[in-house]
Amino acid sequence: MSNNPTRHILVTSALPYANGSLHLGHLLEAIQTDIWVRFQNQRGNHCIYVCADDAHGTAIMLKAEEAGISPERLIDQVRGEHQRDYADFLVHFDNFHSTHSPENRHYSELIYRRLRDNGHIVQRDIEQLFDPEKQLFLADRYIKGTCPRCKTPDQYGDNCEACGATYSPDELIDPRSALSGATPQSKTSEHYFFDLPAFGELLHQWIHSGGLQSQVANKLDEWLDSGLQQWDISRDGPYFGFEIPEAPGKYFYVWLDAPIGYMASFRNYCDQCGLDFERYWAPGADTELYHFIGKDIINFHGLFWPAMLDSAGFRKPSAIYAHGFLTVNGTKMSKSRGTFITARTYLEHSDPEYLRYYFAAKLTGSVDDIDLNLEDFAQRVNSDLVGKVINIASRSARFISKGNDGVLSDELADSKLWQQAVDAGETIAGHYQQREYAKAMREIMALADATNEYFDARQPWAMAKQPGREQELIAVCSLCINLFRVLMIYLQPVLPRTAGKAAEFLNADLDWSQPPQPLLQHRINPFKPMMKRLEPASLEKMVASQRQALESRTAPAVSKHPGAENHEPIAAEIEFPDFAKLDLRVAKILAAEEVEGADKLLRLTLDLGGESRQVLAGIKAAYGATDLVGKLTVMVANLKPRKMRFGMSEGMVLAAGPGGKDIWLLSPDSGAKPGMRVK
Ligand code: 2FM
Ligand code: ZN
Repeated sequence: MSNNPTRHILVTSALPYANGSLHLGHLLEAIQTDIWVRFQNQRGNHCIYVCADDAHGTAIMLKAEEAGISPERLIDQVRGEHQRDYADFLVHFDNFHSTHSPENRHYSELIYRRLRDNGHIVQRDIEQLFDPEKQLFLADRYIKGTCPRCKTPDQYGDNCEACGATYSPDELIDPRSALSGATPQSKTSEHYFFDLPAFGELLHQWIHSGGLQSQVANKLDEWLDSGLQQWDISRDGPYFGFEIPEAPGKYFYVWLDAPIGYMASFRNYCDQCGLDFERYWAPGADTELYHFIGKDIINFHGLFWPAMLDSAGFRKPSAIYAHGFLTVNGTKMSKSRGTFITARTYLEHSDPEYLRYYFAAKLTGSVDDIDLNLEDFAQRVNSDLVGKVINIASRSARFISKGNDGVLSDELADSKLWQQAVDAGETIAGHYQQREYAKAMREIMALADATNEYFDARQPWAMAKQPGREQELIAVCSLCINLFRVLMIYLQPVLPRTAGKAAEFLNADLDWSQPPQPLLQHRINPFKPMMKRLEPASLEKMVASQRQALESRTAPAVSKHPGAENHEPIAAEIEFPDFAKLDLRVAKILAAEEVEGADKLLRLTLDLGGESRQVLAGIKAAYGATDLVGKLTVMVANLKPRKMRFGMSEGMVLAAGPGGKDIWLLSPDSGAKPGMRVK
């Protein structure tokens, strides 16, 4: 790299919303970005990493209202929390700012005025649902009602979680404001639109300028081909954001000023350290600009953002780098399973570098999802980092400190092995550059394996017992220490803290702007343990504690709904197809009898509308046998018959209530008929 000119690079990752804690999904992106930035700087480039909190929008306004504090106070608190979390995961920003900042107001207004003056802003009336109680326009997610297709109640205004239908909120049956419960009214207001269709040709060129991942370019092409729409960039007050210049009562939509927050954070940084802002944002700049984002926000970064920048006279990004979603144990992160893990909960139970390494070992340059499998996680960290890499230093160091007063030999015991490790550096660097971290980690671990094999084959522990082989012993262990240094040079972007400890032990830097040179006749420091094993029990505790934290938070929220007094935690989430397998039917209890020897069971004979079933039900504490005849219940009609201690049970009866005496069945006058399907 030394022969290449220094690259000047500005990097961002997506701005987290200032209304909630960071979770491991945020960390996947921040760690991916931080590794790339550290790599660039270690290679001698000049790479700056800025980020900020995304502080505007209705959600933040409402959250502050709910907490009884001002939005400014809320976003300040959350920003502090976010910065601590990132720092504790060793994510190093050159600047972490806020979209609610003077710099962001300045650039948002500037960009807007330029778009407007270029004729790229149009105004027109739109009709929207309005909450007459809260006196605000309702975004789709704040409207709930019954799905027009499958009739499932309590569905959001744009799609049904039960049947997957998509619709507009005015198609919902019995729509309600999710904020106040009021029936929304249709109301007209004037909105401001960014004329995205005017940028079709420009976007086509930008998409095919070569820097984008093929999956991202294909997605953007699809949108282009299906026709671009004008983008609504205004929201009516009350709204927490910046008022649009010369448009009283109208505010910039949060997604208008969010990416401008990248510029604002960088401007704030420039003002602190005297850097030239224009050099990074002027058209034709000799610098590079990359946005690391999740694949869910490609449209904002790949369509609106380059078009806005172009119209406003700024440079466009060199590329956007999208990554996939994070799953935990193979499924979407789930609150009830305890796998929706916040940054802080993780940090309370585990080491940030374990996760940095695991993410690195899984990350590729594609938008494929990444799975954090907790079992594999522990196994991988222990076997690769502790068992392979650190082990090289710990097993070699003792011979050097005892046998040669901590001084490495003046020769390389196996120059071929050394050269192999040095030569791998360019391949590994290429993988980092392409964000193919998984490939880089594989190469590094292959070198660690080769080093351990070499150590085992040379058997220094045997040499130590054989007089006359002292020099050979020191040479073998010195090579291993040198190879350990090379490994730590390559791992430094991923493991900055351990790399720091390694540098201290080696008494040497971990520079990678040049190919590594061996340390010969060089004094190292006494070896101190650098990394502990990951105890799988700590991950179990983490999951349990996350589940508990979320349960204790959700319990009062559940009881806020009138009539909801069920404090039992909601069971693990199931997918809709799992639910769809249940055939639920209304059944009439024809007969109920005591079961000899069973304290809790009654044997029920049920009428399923022509078909009769015998079910053993644990409801004796609530109902005497005679009370039940004629009552209706809901049963799982397709449950495989089960042989129980007291006989066969051909289904499962459902009843409401916590159990014991408090169990309720449907009353016979409910209108339900035996055999009726329950949906
Ligand atoms: O999706 C999100 O979490 C947004 N807050 C990301 C904003 S990225 C950028 F455009 F500011
Ligand atoms: Zn539906």
